[in-house]
Amino acid sequence: MKIGVPKEIVPGERRVALTPDATAALVKSGLQVVVERGAGEGAFHSDAAFEAAGARIVADIYTEADVVLKVQKPTLDEVDRLREGTVLVSFLQALTSADLVQRLAARRITSFGMEGIPRISRAQKMDALSSQANIAGYRAALIAAESLAKFFPMMMTAAGTVFAARTLVMGAGVAGLQAIATARRLGAQVWGYDVRPAVKEQVESLGAKFLVLELAVADAEDKSGYAKALSADAARRQQELLAEKTKDFDVVITTALVPGRPAPRLVTKETVAGMRPGSVIVDLAAEAGGNCELTQPDKVVVVERGVTIHGPTNLPATMPVHASQLYARNVTELLRELVKDGALALDFDDEVVKGACVTHGGEVVSDAVKATLSARKTA
Ligand code: NAI
Repeated sequence: MKIGVPKEIVPGERRVALTPDATAALVKSGLQVVVERGAGEGAFHSDAAFEAAGARIVADIYTEADVVLKVQKPTLDEVDRLREGTVLVSFLQALTSADLVQRLAARRITSFGMEGIPRISRAQKMDALSSQANIAGYRAALIAAESLAKFFPMMMTAAGTVFAARTLVMGAGVAGLQAIATARRLGAQVWGYDVRPAVKEQVESLGAKFLVLELAVADAEDKSGYAKALSADAARRQQELLAEKTKDFDVVITTALVPGRPAPRLVTKETVAGMRPGSVIVDLAAEAGGNCELTQPDKVVVVERGVTIHGPTNLPATMPVHASQLYARNVTELLRELVKDGALALDFDDEVVKGACVTHGGEVVSDAVKATLSARKTA
């Protein structure tokens, strides 16, 4: 079985789906690996390093690969280059990419979306959403520190004392917890907030305080541990309460997400208008519409009173070495589950396969994707 790794074509994407180390491990397990010329350049992995790991460097992996490993969801043109029956492992953002999913099914591609790996203990080593969100959380805190016209830590100097920056992280999942931990390491005073009360303990274990809002929400999470969308009333109440709280902060980092839904709107333009002059917002949900009403994807916006709003959409690509290392581990662990004795062996009763497999045999097989597609059709 031949594994192929193309060069990512999305502008600014510097990650690569396999590193030379991960390649060596696959080759050792009896698989062949072909890598597109220059695929690792953005992450500082040369063609020579892939060759030394046992890969063959080629101009076009699509004509020969049985399994294609990618980072960014493929364009429709890339899908058309896949041979019928190829296995594709990549982020697909399948819940929000109807055209892509339909094309994958039409071309009889067996596709696995890394975003569908369930967050269960057995699958942690395959959880690419988490490995990449962790990087985004870290970078978000650094961006905030860099952008703020104040110190993060408290300092007692001969010229007087400066107080630590007050930082609020909204959404305390993987990215949020890493943002909290990083802001703490930089010396800020940090508060975490989330609709799921279960995360209070995790926030506090990082030395931050948990912000409690008077928001009576029963059943904040579904059975897989993800937050549920709030009712319109609860969402409005949440915005009002957060508007009151954010007045006291220098930095707000937002990471709130409900999978497959537009980003919950936590920070309105009125909230921004009430923030301290010179304060900074880093909105990690920019790609899904933003947790902040004024966020613009991949832009830095400075609004009235000097409040700066960052909307980066691909922070993992800004740390391509570790992002690729962790992603390569995630995809190779998934491959180990899917390939037995050198051949694809899919068990659709397996939770990982059920969660991640989007299309197979010309059909959309993921229940979650089928439900979302049909809800869109009837909407
Ligand atoms: P996650 O699912 O682990 O965490 C999201 C958190 O938001 C959960 O704890 C959830 O309870 C909370 N939440 C949901 N609705 C909320 C609400 N109305 N109020 C308060 N909290 C709410 O997700 P993860 O992996 O931490 O990702 C967070 C965000 O970061 C996502 O939007 C993801 O797409 C984004 N991301 C952005 C990157 C970038 O470069 N900008 C890179 C990676 C992830």
